[in-house]
Amino acid sequence: MSTLYDRADIYDLIESDARTASIRHDWKTFLGNRPIRTLLDVSIGTGGMTLPLQELGISVSGSDLSKSMLARCRQKAEQKGCPVTLLQSDFRDLSCWSGNSFDCVASTGNALGYVDHDGVLKTLEQMDRLVRPGGFICFDSRNWEKIQREKKRFYLYNPFFKGDTRINLVQVWDHHADGTITFNLLYTFEQHNRIIQKELFEEHYHPFSKDLVLGKLAELGYTGTALSPVPSTIQETDFDRIDWYRVIAQKASDG
Ligand SMILES: C[S@@+](CC[C@H](N)C(=O)[O-])C[C@H]1O[C@@H](n2cnc3c(N)ncnc32)[C@H](O)[C@@H]1O
Repeated sequence: MSTLYDRADIYDLIESDARTASIRHDWKTFLGNRPIRTLLDVSIGTGGMTLPLQELGISVSGSDLSKSMLARCRQKAEQKGCPVTLLQSDFRDLSCWSGNSFDCVASTGNALGYVDHDGVLKTLEQMDRLVRPGGFICFDSRNWEKIQREKKRFYLYNPFFKGDTRINLVQVWDHHADGTITFNLLYTFEQHNRIIQKELFEEHYHPFSKDLVLGKLAELGYTGTALSPVPSTIQETDFDRIDWYRVIAQKASDG
């Protein structure tokens, strides 16, 4: 079964000017007045979450496992006239960035759950090595604990429209006995009330607890940890009721 990330064109169907503006506004609220001028996203994908930071005066760099996602990210950045440095890399080994350091090293788009728990811990260690003293680690994640409690399977999304084509997205999640989850994503493309194209993808996730990652940040010496719902317009403070969260934490100045 193919991965969505080989079809960056389909992945990006969700994008719109309104979504990009709201992502930018969300970052602004979330980052507040933290001194961040350079940011590396180790799961940058097509840059939908990260390129909007450029208009906030942040210089963006990125890596990702998927060549196709990186190619589209590069094209989008060049079209904006704001090229980015992009490298292909698994975030469990970020040695391609050695010799660089950033004000903030991030993983966006619920990507940490792609690897098992050892992989998540290793990734945080690798990210930490690239954060300047006094800098920040940031990542977002679905609330896997809520997902595992509820074991919801069917997700229907509002249709997207591209010209005279309506695109429908349905997700069906398989919850496996070992705790991993497969997201089955079905895109159907229709014109004149007839489906003219179907695309099916599978993504596999390893749910992890918030304590796994917050515990690792503490072990690495990070403090000032803040956790907020995504998007930040959600006012919920009860973690059990949040679907998606983002974390930022600060490295020691002598780290
Ligand atoms: C849901 S997409 C998010 C992309 C982008 N951050 C965004 O929010 O639009 C998840 C991304 O994680 C990347 N990814 C998955 N496993 C990875 C790994 N082990 N190392 C680096 N990137 C990985 C995928 O290629 C994909 O681009």
